[in-house]
Amino acid sequence: MCGIVGYAGHEQAAPILLDGLEKLEYRGYDSAGVCIGDGGALRVAKAKGRLAHLSELIDGGRSLQGTIGIGHTRWATHGAPSDENSHPHIADSGKIAVVHNGIIENYLKLKEWLVGLGKRFHSETDTEVVANLIEHFYDEGFDFRMSVRKAVERIEGSYALGIMCRDYPDTLIAVKKDSPLIFGFGDGCNYIASDVPAILKYTREVCYLDDGDMVMFTASDAHFFNGAGDPVEKRPEHITWDTSAAEKGGYAHFMLKEIHEQPKAIRDTLSPRMKDGRVVLDDIRLTPEYLKSLSRVYVVACGSAYYVGVQSKYIIEKLCQLPVEPVLASEFRYADPVLGADTLVLIISQSGETADTLAALREAKARGARTLAIVNVVGSSIAKLADDVIYTWAGPEIAVATTKAYSTQLAVVDLLALYFAQCLGTLPQARYDQLYGELQQLPAKVERLLTEEVISRIQYDASRFFNNRDVFYIGRNLDSATCLEGSLKLKEIAYIHSEAYAAGELKHGPISLIEDGTLVVAIATNPALFDKTMSNVKEVKARGAEVLGLTTERFADEIAKSVDSAILTPETDPLFQPNLSIVPLQCFAYYVALMRGCDVDKPRNLAKSVTVE
Ligand code: G6P
Repeated sequence: MCGIVGYAGHEQAAPILLDGLEKLEYRGYDSAGVCIGDGGALRVAKAKGRLAHLSELIDGGRSLQGTIGIGHTRWATHGAPSDENSHPHIADSGKIAVVHNGIIENYLKLKEWLVGLGKRFHSETDTEVVANLIEHFYDEGFDFRMSVRKAVERIEGSYALGIMCRDYPDTLIAVKKDSPLIFGFGDGCNYIASDVPAILKYTREVCYLDDGDMVMFTASDAHFFNGAGDPVEKRPEHITWDTSAAEKGGYAHFMLKEIHEQPKAIRDTLSPRMKDGRVVLDDIRLTPEYLKSLSRVYVVACGSAYYVGVQSKYIIEKLCQLPVEPVLASEFRYADPVLGADTLVLIISQSGETADTLAALREAKARGARTLAIVNVVGSSIAKLADDVIYTWAGPEIAVATTKAYSTQLAVVDLLALYFAQCLGTLPQARYDQLYGELQQLPAKVERLLTEEVISRIQYDASRFFNNRDVFYIGRNLDSATCLEGSLKLKEIAYIHSEAYAAGELKHGPISLIEDGTLVVAIATNPALFDKTMSNVKEVKARGAEVLGLTTERFADEIAKSVDSAILTPETDPLFQPNLSIVPLQCFAYYVALMRGCDVDKPRNLAKSVTVE
């Protein structure tokens, strides 16, 4: 959600900014812009629509000369996507240019005040207030840095800001609170960006700015200050992953590449934590005594990560006899949750920056609960703030619709459940060993789901069903949780209305919507519940539905009697079956979206990293 890139160096800035913004396209946006400093001038080019459009307007950056600049992709919050509302925003007298990610909550009050002082506004955005506020202090006689500091003291909300001043032609300032921003140390140049891929081609030495941090930099030096305005030192961290990890590597889309990376991502996440028949979680400090003192676990997250939370309820409760409550982060933070020393709050987030999840984490800590985060991005805000962190080693995930992050989060939940059971003594050794063995085999089984044979079968199903307008995903127990994620994938990237229902709930409403040709995706992987789900399949078939079934290999013949087409997965323990079931559902959504001509990696209106409430 909104991407920022900034550069101060000796090369032409505009092509570097456009290149960086392209790497941030995955975050989701609806307009783009750059501001290039050229001697004393601040030259802005911005436009609604795709980055390619902006690039065309400025001839790939060649028509905007200058070696310093800021760039932005905007995901509209205040004001529609339009040329005027695109960033950068220039203050009324033209001295300050700003790009912003986040939301200025008190912008209306500030705007009123600034208008009263004679400032004119040209957009509906909250960001223009920041530009004018900085210019106001600058006009009062404060220098560039103090003007920014005084402005951020007045603004409430979240922000990562990249700022230029006409009178400081070699200098950029960046400041952040509750929105991600990194600083990149180059050779004779320096960078800021919302995320590492934007600058990875140019430097591997980065530091993650903390809330309140400000950096003032030129091509040759950088000065960091903390929230109190005191100078601080920042050491570069070396990024070890390769640029190829953030590129498509021959796949048509990032989503397809990331689907295929799942066996490796799950293996990388599981194997360092499974040693000699035991789960070893050196990364966290939850002792058996502490776990025994727990009366409840809340799992708090958004989107797909929340659906991992729904899965975790079934798995942890079953293996550890510990009550688990999944809660949406956007609800949790305002729900007045009852928390204390006997409550563990498990936070799940790919980006580690989701605004609601971060706020929920703060709330949980403030209320005295211990927090454990499952996060993919090292050094992200959630990773830094949680009491303990387990990283999913999925590598950078670029496609807006998550695949490998979801799979690795689920794998960590499985690991945690086994670890808790091990500490709490809730499982007989033989059952523990059996589950441990199944977990070890998961990556290889996921690999079997990505063979040419299985994929072409799914492509065939996609070609059969891609024109359906309404889809229902039904299943029981863990399968119903898998339905949530399968259905979300289809909605997100193929723009098909789709709903997930616990199969037993069908008769309490949604069955009234089933008519000739409605597609029902029925997941029935649990042997104990297979017949019950098939009864529900019969009910929808009787009302005209077409049914795509998903089950395990052993039910191949059985399911063929009830459905129009079936996808089969290898066998594993029913508790781990969701790790396998989700893969064909991701592929199905992908191929349906492709056949419908959708922009798979950058679905409309969606953002990868949702950094506003
Ligand atoms: C967005 C993404 C989803 C993701 C959700 C939570 O909606 O498109 O794929 O599940 O945010 O993001 P997080 O980074 O916290 O996992």
